[in-house]
Amino acid sequence: MTEAPGGVQVVRTPEALRAVRQGLGPVGFVPTMGYLHEGHAALIRRARQENALAVVSIFVNPMQFGPTDDLARYPRDLDRDLRVCAEAGAQVVFTPDAGVMYPPGFSTQVSLTGVSEPLDGAARPGHFTGVATVVLKLLNLVQPDRAYFGEKDWQQLAVIRRMVADLNVPVQVVGVPTVRADSGLALSSRNSYLGTEQQARATVLSRALRAVQAAYAAGERDTARLEQAGLDVLATDPEVQPDYLAVVPPDLQRQPTVTPDPLNRVLVAARMFGVRLIDNLPLDPADPVPAALPPGGPA
Ligand code: PAJ
Repeated sequence: MTEAPGGVQVVRTPEALRAVRQGLGPVGFVPTMGYLHEGHAALIRRARQENALAVVSIFVNPMQFGPTDDLARYPRDLDRDLRVCAEAGAQVVFTPDAGVMYPPGFSTQVSLTGVSEPLDGAARPGHFTGVATVVLKLLNLVQPDRAYFGEKDWQQLAVIRRMVADLNVPVQVVGVPTVRADSGLALSSRNSYLGTEQQARATVLSRALRAVQAAYAAGERDTARLEQAGLDVLATDPEVQPDYLAVVPPDLQRQPTVTPDPLNRVLVAARMFGVRLIDNLPLDPADPVPAALPPGGPA
């Protein structure tokens, strides 16, 4: 165990983690892959506010990257991350080596049906199995009372809620609203691949989502026509290669027409300048995500 500037304790092994975890209650946990920004900081601040101890994990999880994904070039800067953690109020940072998380002989996978299948599940085969497996491992290691996830990754949040409910994991999953730049661009570690001009162009994603909200507000309830309003905006920039733009109910299974539900969502994924970007918004901006979700959450 080492102490970084700002008083954060950095632990690298399950044994050291157990030692700092012992005797301290309530623990809030924020799993991340590092290269932290204000979106991560919002999760960490929430974890610190609502718990005695805020634990952050930084682990670029090889299992959730596909063979053509950006694992090797995924951005890393541990020193900067530790400063962000300290400023946001984290007391412990768990940053294990891949060999600690996946020792030789590792053979188990956590795989979900249903909520993990459409959208990013279809576009990135195996991705959510990698996410669910590492998150369950991290929850077992940290044993937090509450775990914090961003709405930015709406389908990931739904997958985690489903897994936690299905496997009776004793943790409360807390969803945190997406933090955006003033331009509307959702903050993401992957934005660092884009220059300033390219980031300005990438606001086309959030503008497309808002066009779908506007069509819904104008009374449109046909899913395909709602989606077309967003696709029309994406088509204004030839650089955009859309993966999907979908209006979905809480279980993420697309329906021909929209039934009112505060957890209806419009999601987009697109490649721009060689970078895959995702974003989502509530279909009706008047719908806040309920503070207390039903057991099992939106999935
Ligand atoms: P990562 O992309 O580092 O994100 C860590 C957490 O920060 C996730 O819960 C994500 O939804 C949240 N987050 C990212 N950008 C955000 C923003 N702009 N506003 C609010 N929250 C934001 O998601 C992962 O890592 C991994 O899949 C992980 C869950 C750690 C498993 O490996």
